[in-house]
Amino acid sequence: MRILVTGGTGFIGSHTIVELLGAGHEVVALDNLCNSSKTVLDRIETITGKRVPFAKGDIRDAAFLDEVFGSAHFDCVIHFAGLKAVGESVGKPLEYYDNNVNGTLVLLNAMRMHGVRSIIFSSSATVYGEAKTLPLTEDMPHGEVTNPYGRTKLIIEDILSDLYRADPSWNVILLRYFNPIGAHQSGLIGESPLGIPNNLMPYITQVAIGKLPELGVFGDDYDTPDGSCQRDYIHVVDLAKGHVAALKALKSSGNLQVYNLGTGTPTSVLELVKAFEKATGVEVPYSIKPRRAGDLAACWADASKAERDLGWKTQYGIEDMCADSWRWQRQNPEGYPEE
Ligand code: NAD
Ligand code: WQD
Repeated sequence: MRILVTGGTGFIGSHTIVELLGAGHEVVALDNLCNSSKTVLDRIETITGKRVPFAKGDIRDAAFLDEVFGSAHFDCVIHFAGLKAVGESVGKPLEYYDNNVNGTLVLLNAMRMHGVRSIIFSSSATVYGEAKTLPLTEDMPHGEVTNPYGRTKLIIEDILSDLYRADPSWNVILLRYFNPIGAHQSGLIGESPLGIPNNLMPYITQVAIGKLPELGVFGDDYDTPDGSCQRDYIHVVDLAKGHVAALKALKSSGNLQVYNLGTGTPTSVLELVKAFEKATGVEVPYSIKPRRAGDLAACWADASKAERDLGWKTQYGIEDMCADSWRWQRQNPEGYPEE
């Protein structure tokens, strides 16, 4: 199949492109580079031996999209492009709604105009809000989401569901990611956050390499086995393979499906620190800090629907995730080089 990957130079997009190429698909990467680097394309070429055509531009630019969709027929769009910083979204709601929601509307219009009706969308476990019971299953209703970033995911899920209801010839797959970490085993591509990381794994690797003095563990008084929060960390390569599996399951007639992509196993913050130290032999100094506002005590997936329908399940464990995150950090202490 020929696939347009929006957000293709980003963290999850780049790993997904590697897996798509490995599975024999043709790919065009689209990105405005607001949170990624063109160097990713060179790294993908080193890993796969293939140069991915790149369309540099913004999904909110209808004329640009018209050109991209006019240049070739695409069988499906995998839509990663979006802003994703929860804290930033609280201060910049208009920017988040414009980029993520408006951007998706412009993209869907372009797809409709060019007769492309298959889309796989990067949603998030954040749409479940505070869980009443765990693990989370796809049929649980949307919960209360406390930030604009999360609400853009809810809104886009609703837009895609309404679109499918109005025109059942659309093929829509909503993938709800849990906590992607890790990096490609080559150490050539990985997560390259700007400034001080908000997320746990990049924070840990930056402490381990000495860029940050210590990790703050946000709370040890939650109602969890060791008091720190539990999450479902998933290796980004497993997550990427989930997209290849979802593509295989796309029907030629219309359909709308939702899948959790997680491991089904919770790991606490303190357990992740221990696993990192075991996998890498590097100590991670930490101290206990107050709870971070808005954090859930625990969140993990029931991933059995994806296994049943897509034949997909995760292969990598928590120590693989730590070892691969560390290899990426060590080989690229400053992230991707400036162009
Ligand atoms: P990322 O920031 O590394 O990748 C997103 C890419 O989209 C970036 O390369 C950025 O430059 C590009 N982009 C942003 N706005 C754009 C626009 N208007 N036009 C064109 N390109 C644009 O993030 P990621 O971690 O790879 O996440 C990919 C997707 O998965 C996002 O939609 C994110 O919300 C979603 N997601 C991520 C996580 C996570 O923890 N990383 C969890 C759940 C869902
Ligand atoms: C994980 C755990 C923190 C940093 C976020 C988004 C979510 C999704 C994934 C996109 C929590 C603790 C963290 C630190 C810590 N993204 N922590 N010290 O919050 O589960 O999810 O990313 O959809 O929407 O909210 O991930 O990596 O920020 O935190 O103790 O310096 O690590 O409290 O328990 P989170 P995270």
